[in-house]
Amino acid sequence: MPRFDCSMLPTVMPQLSDGRVALRAFNESDVSLIQSVADDPLIPLITTVLTSGTHDDALAFIARQHDRLSTGTGYSFAITDTISDQAVGQIGLWLHDIRHGRASIGYWVAPVFRRRGFVTASLDTLTSWALSLEEVHRVHLYVEPTNVGSWRAAERCGYSREGLLRSWQEIGSERKDVFMYSAVRTPY
Ligand SMILES: CC(C)(COP(=O)(O)OP(=O)(O)OC[C@H]1O[C@@H](n2cnc3c(N)ncnc32)[C@H](O)[C@@H]1OP(=O)(O)O)[C@@H](O)C(=O)NCCC(=O)NCCS
Repeated sequence: MPRFDCSMLPTVMPQLSDGRVALRAFNESDVSLIQSVADDPLIPLITTVLTSGTHDDALAFIARQHDRLSTGTGYSFAITDTISDQAVGQIGLWLHDIRHGRASIGYWVAPVFRRRGFVTASLDTLTSWALSLEEVHRVHLYVEPTNVGSWRAAERCGYSREGLLRSWQEIGSERKDVFMYSAVRTPY
């Protein structure tokens, strides 16, 4: 089976932008954003945001994001609104399967900033960057069928729904089906 050389992946966090959003490394000014999603019904179940909502736990979350690159886990970005310079969410490019030329993306936006196009703009920006990397041939997303905002953003960014992965993952205390969405570099 072919293995890709991952040694050429960027070793520092890039700054990415489409003019509407900027994706950058987290910093301590993002503590209040992290605290604000501690009581979200989904975000603590699919990330390492803790439900305590304390300042220290938010700082620890930010420190973990800085470790993602050094441990080879991936690139964790704060999504910021370029107009207000306000951080509104997180998007990450995850590299667990990069030796096979595959990466995945996950994201969230704080409730107060939803339905303003932030995830669509961020996903588009990060997908373009990811597929420009020699090592990345395919990017995929796992989306619950009920998460209409998430799969609409995926489709808006050119992702294709490939199928339903049944009983794929435990989220909270339940097994969940997820749609598999992908974007691939063309031509292969
Ligand atoms: C899902 C989520 C990331 C969407 O982020 P967002 O910034 O609100 O998304 P956008 O504003 O870019 O909207 C994308 C599309 O979905 C639609 N949409 C957004 N939320 C929606 C909802 N709750 N119901 C129906 N449609 C919705 C938007 O109208 C837009 O559609 P359009 O392109 O046809 O106009 C956000 O709701 C969230 O963080 N939820 C909790 C965490 C989560 O679900 N993460 C993703 C796991 S796969």
